[in-house]
Amino acid sequence: MSQKIIITGATSGLGLALVSRLKSAGFTPIITGRNADKCARIAADLDLPGYALDVANPNAITAVCARIRHDHGPIDGLINNAGIWLEGDFKTYSAADIRAVIDTNTTGTILMSHAILPDMLTRGHGTVINIVSTGALYCRKLISVYSASKWAIRGFTGCLEVESAPKGVRVMGFYPGKIASNMYETAGVGRDLDMAMTPDQAAAMVVTMLKDKDMLWSHVSGRSVQDYV
Ligand SMILES: NC(=O)c1ccc[n+]([C@@H]2O[C@H](COP(=O)([O-])OP(=O)(O)OC[C@H]3O[C@@H](n4cnc5c(N)ncnc54)[C@H](OP(=O)(O)O)[C@@H]3O)[C@@H](O)[C@H]2O)c1
Repeated sequence: MSQKIIITGATSGLGLALVSRLKSAGFTPIITGRNADKCARIAADLDLPGYALDVANPNAITAVCARIRHDHGPIDGLINNAGIWLEGDFKTYSAADIRAVIDTNTTGTILMSHAILPDMLTRGHGTVINIVSTGALYCRKLISVYSASKWAIRGFTGCLEVESAPKGVRVMGFYPGKIASNMYETAGVGRDLDMAMTPDQAAAMVVTMLKDKDMLWSHVSGRSVQDYV
């Protein structure tokens, strides 16, 4: 039977590329996204299940994950991909900006894992991949809160990796460099992405991590060769 993989933030960029790649590879991607219309349209176009889900809303996580389990039974994989960007001098951030980044990138990832991982551990089967960032591998200016949101997930992922592996469940992190997606534009930040990797290139790496069941791919990073030119 086709393996069911929940993807958060699957309505654009890396998440959407993952949906296509996983479908081609014989998985059943379960599309989720904060924009209900986009989510429904993509699900209908690709003939896949789709659910509106804002991961910054803890009640929505509980309700939607219960519905997905009811509709599809046990889940084989979760890719915590939903994320937002915040850039600029720390002093210019509003409290609302800060909360949105932490609620989405950090708490959203943790609560999604909390909703899905326990059943995987009980069954001794499953994979969780958290989309992190090179922003959680080193520090640089102007991304203090985005970086904090991802460093937290680096720690979370590493601890769950060692906690879950002996029980037959892989928890892994992917730490991409620049991806040519909507993320910066959505945040109102101009960015030259000519040298960035494509969402499809990044998705190919994640699908390899997911498929290679005998390996626990820890701290996997990658960027386009052009990014070094
Ligand atoms: N782009 C990069 O250079 C880069 C580098 C390193 C890591 N990453 C990480 O890669 C992941 C994917 O980002 P991307 O580059 O593909 O950006 P993207 O094209 O903006 O995609 C992000 C997705 O997350 C969704 N999303 C945002 N907030 C959400 C929420 N509260 N609940 C549910 N979905 C939500 C967005 O929905 P909408 O379609 O409604 O906007 C979108 O579908 C993120 O975790 C990001 O931090 C990106």
